[in-house]
Amino acid sequence: MSAENEKWIAAIASAEYVKNGMLVGLGSGSTAAFMIAELGKRVAGGLIMKGVPSSDATARLAKQAGISLLSLDEAGTMDINIDGADEFDPQLQLIKGGGGALLREKILAHNSRFNIIIADSGKEVERLGKFQLPIETIPFATQTIIAELEHLDLQPKLRMKNDEVYKTDENNYILDVDIFQKDDLKELNTLLIQIPGVVETGLFLSSTDLVLVGQGNKVAT
Ligand code: 5RP
Repeated sequence: MSAENEKWIAAIASAEYVKNGMLVGLGSGSTAAFMIAELGKRVAGGLIMKGVPSSDATARLAKQAGISLLSLDEAGTMDINIDGADEFDPQLQLIKGGGGALLREKILAHNSRFNIIIADSGKEVERLGKFQLPIETIPFATQTIIAELEHLDLQPKLRMKNDEVYKTDENNYILDVDIFQKDDLKELNTLLIQIPGVVETGLFLSSTDLVLVGQGNKVAT
């Protein structure tokens, strides 16, 4: 079974958790896009819900799917948040931000009562870090942060897109770093977040309540 199909069946399964009247955090990325399409179908079939998008791209998809949107200010706390991940481990720790939406995604996860991650089986790892960790930085401070991360032996790479520096929805930059050798991820995250100019990291260490993972033609929890 292809990764695309595994993403799709995990996304369909996640939509089952959305009940009438819920406020739903809408994640970003290709797996989340399947979930948004499914929720759109359910809304067309009578489901009453409102979504809070984690990126401009997700807002566009959700509107196309016919899902009513609220800002985070309007929503406050969401009943449920459904998002993808780049990696998850047995402790339900995640690396996120491959698509660059980590900042708003982490804010939505923090402000949701129940967080579901949807993924294909290729995202499951014993130890986080084969996927490079995205760190969102303020452009003004990015060169000094690169020097500091090099000193920590994290081998930062400034993310580029079409030969230009990649910019997030918040007009920040992303540094992708190598954390595979790091044992204490909590300590690492605390260290990173304390560097002035670092806005957020893609380490989601304790927000996830449930992972729905497509494995072949079944969804495992
Ligand atoms: C975007 C993310 C995505 O959830 C992550 O990159 C997974 O994407 P996909 O579902 O396309 O594999 O964190 O910032």
